[in-house]
Amino acid sequence: MNIVILAAGMGKRMRSALPKVLHPLAGRPLLAHVIDTARTLSPTRLVVVVGHGAEKVREAVGAPDVQFAVQEQQLGTGHAVQQALPLLDSSVPTLVLYGDVPLTRASTLKRLLDAAGTERYGVLTVTVDDPTGYGRIVRDAGGAVRKIVEQKDASEAERRITEINTGIVVSPTRTLEQWLASLKNDNAQGEFYLTDVVERAIEAGVEVVTAQPDAEWETLGVNSKVQLAELERIHQRNVAYALLDAGVTLADPARTDVRGTLECGADVTIDVNCVFEGRVTLGDNVSIGPNCVIRDASIGAGTRVDAYTHIEGGTAGANVVLGPYARLRPGAVLGDEAHVGNFVEVKNAVMGRGSKANHLTYIGDSDIGARVNVGAGTITCNYDGANKHRTVIGDDVFIGSDTQLVAPVRVGRGVTIAAGTTVWKDVGEGELVLNEKRQVSKTDYIRPTKKKV
Ligand code: UD1
Ligand code: CA
Repeated sequence: MNIVILAAGMGKRMRSALPKVLHPLAGRPLLAHVIDTARTLSPTRLVVVVGHGAEKVREAVGAPDVQFAVQEQQLGTGHAVQQALPLLDSSVPTLVLYGDVPLTRASTLKRLLDAAGTERYGVLTVTVDDPTGYGRIVRDAGGAVRKIVEQKDASEAERRITEINTGIVVSPTRTLEQWLASLKNDNAQGEFYLTDVVERAIEAGVEVVTAQPDAEWETLGVNSKVQLAELERIHQRNVAYALLDAGVTLADPARTDVRGTLECGADVTIDVNCVFEGRVTLGDNVSIGPNCVIRDASIGAGTRVDAYTHIEGGTAGANVVLGPYARLRPGAVLGDEAHVGNFVEVKNAVMGRGSKANHLTYIGDSDIGARVNVGAGTITCNYDGANKHRTVIGDDVFIGSDTQLVAPVRVGRGVTIAAGTTVWKDVGEGELVLNEKRQVSKTDYIRPTKKKV
């Protein structure tokens, strides 16, 4: 089967410089969702018809299995499909999808494909409360489809029809070529309508069949920011309910956003206002506190992520405690039972089993062993203004508060670093390290007072 995705339109009502089909839904372009669904049907040819912002669209969704046809001028949906014809295999049917209709399920498309087979013309239709703006499905007394009439060309009686054209159709390809070539644009919009192909098919004695989606939202398109926001909510609700069905506890399914894939083990709990981006994996019994943002992360069983934690490209082992207000950046790897507390940032660093950095700390480009205690206000000075260097800390080190570790530097196992130490030379195993400084007390000091004016 061939699949053609129409994506040439400008999307004027989006009021944006970004081509309409590139506006994100769940963090990815609308068109990327349609391409994903198309791929599940294993098409032999997959062609996207581009026009407005063609270069940006190609760049955003280009892939070895996707071909592009350019429609220089948007002369109508029929004209758009025509541009793809040279790239199609005429011996198999062609399914037409819209790049701005992102939520159609593969099962619905399969139903349409099954109804049409290889010889019939199939139209996905849906009956709606308010059909304003859509093409109407006109049937004869026997219920057979006679034609599709656009809103602007419809009579009063036709406008009362509530069964509408979703725009998604499937057709034998060889005959489609002839039908498209015969289209005229003598209609209210002066366009070559794909919908007029229905009458051509009937004239040619080809049966026109219809299929319906399970849910109306599957056929909703995006023409405005309002519709984009509405579809985003529908999609997020679907994702949240799938998580609930899988046994995940969500404090509020309306306040969980997944922009990518979220895989959860058993008995995972997620509090309100969390955003998951990219690929996130949560092990059994993980609990996520409110207002966390977690992207491209893997979090081990029994780990607790407290409120306002921000994770981007990190890995946490089992029974870790993170946050509140912790930040993991790319390359952060926390061993089992590690603790990373409030206002602690970990980047490109490994913390061994049971190591703790509970307060106000920056750990960057470091290898920290097991059972290390990192005191409040510890900073790894990993950047010399030109290059980054590593800090290596052995097992069982105790780092006093307000310590600076000037990399590259190595601290042997069992070392004790006194509070307020700047460590810029390597320290051998088991030693105590401190900077000698004097504490001075002055008895004759008078604190300034505010001048009166
Ligand atoms: C179309 C259908 C209408 C249907 C509705 C469903 C026709 C004539 N009408 O109307 O029956 O109810 O969709 O939403 O087909 N496009 C191009 N090139 C063009 C014109 C459109 O690529 O020259 C693309 C658009 O980017 C969009 C899709 O085709 O993705 C639909 O175009 P649009 O103008 O929105 O069609 P409607 O007038 O809504
Ligand atoms: Ca439309």
